[in-house]
Amino acid sequence: MGGPSLPATDTSLKQLEFTPKLPNVRYQCTPPVMSMAELERDIAAEASVDLVTIAQALHWLDLPTFYQQVKWVLKSPNGVIAAWCYTVPEVNDNFDSVFLKFYKIDSKPYWDPARKLVDDKYKSIDFPFEPVDGFDHTRPFEFKSERLMSLEEIFTCIRSWSAYQTAWEKGVELLRDDVREELKRAWTEDGIDQKVVKFHVHLRDGKVGNIAEIAVDKTH
Ligand SMILES: C[S@@+](CC[C@H](N)C(=O)[O-])C[C@H]1O[C@@H](n2cnc3c(N)ncnc32)[C@H](O)[C@@H]1O
Repeated sequence: MGGPSLPATDTSLKQLEFTPKLPNVRYQCTPPVMSMAELERDIAAEASVDLVTIAQALHWLDLPTFYQQVKWVLKSPNGVIAAWCYTVPEVNDNFDSVFLKFYKIDSKPYWDPARKLVDDKYKSIDFPFEPVDGFDHTRPFEFKSERLMSLEEIFTCIRSWSAYQTAWEKGVELLRDDVREELKRAWTEDGIDQKVVKFHVHLRDGKVGNIAEIAVDKTH
């Protein structure tokens, strides 16, 4: 036992339960807003971290507070933040056109305004960091992640959307029978149950640079 224990946080205990458990990671359920004192006590000390990563969640955060805390825990000047989002899945032309209609029309009223930062592939999200060595900007850099999936897994993915949950709380089932049927027709057209699904991932990365000491009030 022993060795470094890296913190991985989420505000949702349910979300943490789904993570693959790595031996060198400690999984912590944290409040949406943490004071600097809590950050230091529960997550990391000042200038102690090489890399902060954040997957598909940056757009939910209060960015000025989050960035202040990231800059405080990262080692200056070379500590790096890497944040990425992924947009809608891609399968084939036929399925994608039905899926996009569902995403852009049916589910649209239920997305939080912050979702537009994802639709914009994190190009316009505030990202006050310096390019990592060898680059002249903090990108986004795009790559594809591929997964073999069934239609049922696509439905599970849709049910995990915040927009799906919001609609549900308002008494609206986004995956109505007719919607599922339309998606199913498009999915089964080629007779293949499991298909390679591509997710486009958009990554911003940057280093903290030389920062003036951040004034921190740890009393609250
Ligand atoms: C789309 S999920 C992504 C989850 C995970 N990072 C992944 O890539 O699979 C967005 C996550 O952001 C979390 N979240 C929302 N606001 C948060 C906050 N203020 N601090 C930490 N996590 C937050 C939600 O609980 C949710 O699990």
